This record gives sequence, C-alpha cells and structure tokens, in this order.
Amino acid sequence: MIQFVSNRGGGAAVGFETAILAGFAPDGGLYVPTELPKISVATLASWKGKTYTEVAYEILSLFIPKSVISETELKQILADSFSTFYHPDLIPIYQLTSEEEVYIQELFHGPTLSFKDVAMGFIVNLFNFFLKRKGEKMTIIVATTGDTGPAAAHATIGKEHLDTWVLYPKELITEEQERQMTTITASNVHAVGVAGCPDGADDLDLLIAEMFADKDFKEKLNLSSVNSINWGRVMMQTVHYFYGYLQTVDKVGDALNFAVPSGAFGNLCSGSLAREMGLPVGKFIIANNQNACLTRIFTEGVFSKAPIIACPASAIDILIPYNFWRYLYFATGQDGAKINEWITTFEATGKVVFDKATFKAYREGFIANSISDEQTLATIQQIYKLEAYLLDPHAAVAVAAAQNLKAELTKGTKTLCLATAHPCKFPESIQTTLGLEKEALPITAKHSSVEAAKLLCQRGYNCHYDHMRQAIKHSMLAKK
Ligand SMILES: Cc1ncc(COP(=O)(O)O)c(C=O)c1O
Repeated sequence: MIQFVSNRGGGAAVGFETAILAGFAPDGGLYVPTELPKISVATLASWKGKTYTEVAYEILSLFIPKSVISETELKQILADSFSTFYHPDLIPIYQLTSEEEVYIQELFHGPTLSFKDVAMGFIVNLFNFFLKRKGEKMTIIVATTGDTGPAAAHATIGKEHLDTWVLYPKELITEEQERQMTTITASNVHAVGVAGCPDGADDLDLLIAEMFADKDFKEKLNLSSVNSINWGRVMMQTVHYFYGYLQTVDKVGDALNFAVPSGAFGNLCSGSLAREMGLPVGKFIIANNQNACLTRIFTEGVFSKAPIIACPASAIDILIPYNFWRYLYFATGQDGAKINEWITTFEATGKVVFDKATFKAYREGFIANSISDEQTLATIQQIYKLEAYLLDPHAAVAVAAAQNLKAELTKGTKTLCLATAHPCKFPESIQTTLGLEKEALPITAKHSSVEAAKLLCQRGYNCHYDHMRQAIKHSMLAKK
C-alpha cells in the first residue's frame, strides 16, 4: 500500500488520510508518496473516450485505498466536486488555427474561473468527508496570488466541518479576484487583504509556514492548508495531464509537449509525476513571466530569489517555487536528507547552486523561458486578431514560451498549452491590449459570475504587512 513521507526525510510514513489532513509534514516538509503507480500505454489507451471524472477515478484509486474511501464514496466526491463547473465537458480543448499543432487546454471553467478549481473542489470535499467521519472541525488557511483564494473560499461554502481563511497581497491581485473572495457571505469563509507585502504572496506563504511551526497555535485551531503544499492538490492535478493527453494525441503512445504558466511549480510538479507514472511527454515548457526563478533553476542550475516584479500574468508573480523541492525528491532518487540539506542552504543563504549531476537529472525533459510583459500582451493581441480567440495573460505566457522555444521541440509533436485562468479575471490587461472600450470587449472577456459580484458589498479583514503576524493570529483566535 502506498504511504506518504516527508520530502525532507523526517518523521514516520503515514497513510493517505493523515497526509491529506496534515497539509505540511511534521518536519516542515511536503508529503510525497513512497512509490508512484505505473500506468502502461495499454491501460492509458483503454481510458480513451472516458470523461474527465472517469479518468480522475482511475488515477485517484491508484493512490487511495478502498478501505479509506470506498469506490461509491470516491465517485460521489468526484461528482459533487465538478457539479459546479460551467462547461459540460469540464476541461475542453481548443485547437489554435494560427499556430501549427498547438492546442489550448481550457482549465478555467470551474466556479471561480481558474485551474485552481480543478483540484480545490475535490480536496475541500475530501477534507469535509474525512472530518465528518471523525466528527471534527478544522481551520484551513491558504495564501493566494489571486486564484487559489477564490477557489478555496468558494469550495468551503456550506462545508460545516471547515472554517477557511484566505490571505492575499492587497495591491497585487485584480479587483475581480478580490471580489470573488470578499463578496462571499458564508460565515465560515474569511478573506484577509494584507497591504504592503514586499515579496507579494510569498510573504504570506512564509507566515503560514510559521503558523504551522507554532505548535500551540496550530493545535488550538486544528490548522491545515489546501495550498499546493497539500499532497491532495498535486495528486489531483496529475489528472488533467492524462485527460488532456487523451483528448489531444492521435495515437496513445505518441509524445505530447505541455506548456505551463508556472509560479510555485505545483501544476508542473503534478505534470512531472504524471510523466513518472508513464504519461508519454515530449517536453515540459516551463513558462515564467519576469519572475523567473524556475527559468534560472532549469537553465542555470541555480535556485535563487530576486525582487518581485508586478506583471500582467500576476498570479505567477511568485518568487519561491516550493513544489520544485517535491519534484526534486523524485528526480534525484528520493533522498530526503539531501533535499533537507538544499532547503536548509536556501533558507540560510537565499541561494542553492546545484552540482552538475543533479542539474542534469532534474532538467531532463524540461525547457524554460521567461516572457516579457510586452510579449505577453502582444501574444493576446496576436491570437485574438488572427482567430478571435481570447487568451488570458497566463495562457498567453504559455503560448509565447511555446512559440519562443519551437526550435527545441520535435517536429510533428503536438503542444498543449495550459490556459489556467479566464480572461475576465484580468480585464485591464485585456482592455489595454485589445485597445477596446469596456463595452466593446468580446463576450469571452466577461463572465456572469464576475459581473454579478460587481453589484455586491465586500466584506473581509484588512491589515498591513508590518503587523500581519499579530493581527491575523488575533483575528483567527477571536473567531474560534
Ligand atoms: C492563473 C494561474 N496560472 C498559473 C499559476 C501557477 O501555478 P503553480 O503555482 O502551481 O505553478 C497560478 C497559481 O499560482 C494561477 O493562478
């Protein structure tokens, strides 16, 4: 039976339920499975034609023992988690006509219009399922660059065993994203805008890690997290790689490239695990905006932090891709002690320079590119002009990286670009780029849920970075 251990090597192996409910492992590391199930090409071929939730069931049941969640229960959780999606196919594919062999995976048809919904609804339902069975309540905390927060907040509505806190950097997300959190009236959802974060949402990730290290506080609140520190998120995100693959390739067994707008490397960590499980991947294209930590890691072999730059694809304004450490655990032979050494060096010095053998091992099958703001916006404009298809700034970063790195891709191999957000969440970028008045924006630049949220009052907490530690802890304890 698959168990779960910390990627930093500390503590004992635990079962699926414990790994999910804990969020972080006790040594501050991220949970990873002791082994990855293998999926043969023949098995993969037998899944062709299955719906997204059917493929999800096949994959999840390789990780979740039936003694923990029965077949009927898992299928019900999946059905509940995707009943709120706006598109009947949940995750449709669009083929670009102006680019050869380039496809778009539309991951933004969930209730809060970003790819975060794909795993979040499921993981929150999983939490509620376990907690209901145990008769317990839990406090969830997440940090967000604008999409995880809305997804977690929305998924929590009506979940009587959960109380969810979402922390966001006040000036660094769009008003549309903020309203998706602050117009929720459910009494178990709390949004906190933090002004003046020098490192954006990375500051809030650090605060959450500190809260987990404060044993007393953590116990008082029965605290957990559904950020992609949680194994459940990473596991669930492997599914859209398999599903997208089955929808796109002509013949199962053919290679497929994936271009992924990346920040904390959660989504790509899932992709890399899917490849490890047997998915035939050509290249993973790591698409960064100007916050290019991953590009430095994959082109120079250096993990280092640089000052934050506010970019149009703002949800990937992330400085520390913490899920890289989870991927590295698998890429370098599951050596937790070594991962712990690297993380400790990074925490002490702000930099890790990887040795040649490690660099060679982890960069296998990855290429990376950092996209300028100009190219991001020009790509939105280019694709819209050529085929009236509207990319959001994140999908544009992915398409631009695929264009820039075309020479490094095998001719004839298709590329699937992951569109991780709906354009309506970034109206200013879209408006400026297309040079249109608000009223003249195409229908695909709007969404009824976002329009409806404009008519509602906002509620939530606000504090400043300088005193967020005391302020947020105080509010959380007072609400308990
Ligand atoms: C729209 C969008 N695209 C891409 C990402 C990056 O995902 P990850 O942090 O898993 O790399 C995020 C989340 O941060 C996002 O909200």
